[in-house]
Amino acid sequence: MDKTGQENTGAARGGYRAALADRPFLLLTATNVLFVLCSVSLEVLLSVFVLRALHQPVWLAGVLFAVNTIPSAVGQTPLSAAFAGLRPIRVLQLSGAVWAVSFALFWLASGVPGVAAIASVSLAVVVFTVAEMIQGPVVNDRRARTVHLALQHRCEPAVDRARARLRWLDRVAVRTAFVSTACDAAVVAKTQYLVAASLDGFIADQDNSLEWLFQAEAAARAEATAAKEDRFTQFFRAVGAMAMGATTYEWVLEHEKLLDQPDKWHDYYGDVPSWVFTHRQLPPIPGARISFVSGDVRPVHEQMTAAAAGQNVWIVGGGELAGQFADQGLLAEIIITIAPATLGAGAPLLPRRLGTAELTLTECRQDGPFAYLTYAVTPPPGSGPDPLT
Ligand SMILES: NC(=O)c1ccc[n+]([C@@H]2O[C@H](COP(=O)([O-])OP(=O)(O)OC[C@H]3O[C@@H](n4cnc5c(N)ncnc54)[C@H](OP(=O)(O)O)[C@@H]3O)[C@@H](O)[C@H]2O)c1
Repeated sequence: MDKTGQENTGAARGGYRAALADRPFLLLTATNVLFVLCSVSLEVLLSVFVLRALHQPVWLAGVLFAVNTIPSAVGQTPLSAAFAGLRPIRVLQLSGAVWAVSFALFWLASGVPGVAAIASVSLAVVVFTVAEMIQGPVVNDRRARTVHLALQHRCEPAVDRARARLRWLDRVAVRTAFVSTACDAAVVAKTQYLVAASLDGFIADQDNSLEWLFQAEAAARAEATAAKEDRFTQFFRAVGAMAMGATTYEWVLEHEKLLDQPDKWHDYYGDVPSWVFTHRQLPPIPGARISFVSGDVRPVHEQMTAAAAGQNVWIVGGGELAGQFADQGLLAEIIITIAPATLGAGAPLLPRRLGTAELTLTECRQDGPFAYLTYAVTPPPGSGPDPLT
């Protein structure tokens, strides 16, 4: 009761003064706004700059936009991989420094004549593009967005206070990032746990068998199963990397006899790179892009995100492994196919405690006897290391 009383009092005392005295909040809001302005400046200002400041023909702006696009297309993946090991805040600092260099080159271009101006502005666009590519994976990473930092980490109390009284600040400063990312929100890569479960929440029975699932599928109407396959095909098309635990890998290996027929792996999963978590030495499947890893899921997730190059990351299972990603705030979505079966015991769907604050039902569909549920996962506050440090 005391705690609630104190929190209420704190909220009532919030407002301009409390928010403006909160340095981490101000710093993050300023950083957020700065990054948004930097990232939109090329689209908004380049044509005007070419015409008005450099007095060059407008087609030069078109050429410069091509200069901006082509390196992104070819260089994003290697650059993401190169910086995958760095903390998000370091990557943002680095891209900020590179951006500063590009703006200096733009400034230089406006002070020199003719060919020198074109050379300088071209170089500025290349450097600008490098800055964009460096910060892209961090800013596009749902958890590492500065907005999320502000909302979920150090500034949470300040943002709550600001929301109570400073609607304009909330909308103008914090939401600015959402406006700028609204266009790409639909395509931002997600880490998804797509799994089939029994009605009582198990993904395999006590003998690690999925017979109950196959029986339910066989009993289902033909069109329902076809729709289910379509749904998986559609889901898998957007997957750029996948991870599974040792038991799941061993099950697939044995069930599909992959050591005898290794091509089947390719038939199912194409060239999508896979990570198998194990403490043991498991047999690799010839020709399959599989890495065997162990320990903390975060660095592996960074490798996966880099390899996925903008596509989704699929956590195949089991539940404990998905839980390790959830613990670190890395899980964005849970997609469950509920089969008409109860097992009483077995491998749990997700042996973690998450509540309504963390789980939002975003889709609910029926397909014959199967139900499809999609939950967006909000990382619990404080999950994982502080990305600011
Ligand atoms: N219904 C579905 O859609 C669905 C989906 C996926 C899986 N499944 C089934 O569900 C069952 C899953 O079983 P499960 O949850 O026990 O297994 P799991 O996640 O597939 O494997 C657990 C094992 O993975 C290894 N592991 C996990 N985290 C690790 C880490 N951080 N570092 C190193 N190794 C790590 C450990 O293996 P070691 O220490 O032994 O090496 C651990 O015993 C399987 O039978 C699978 O076939 C069903």
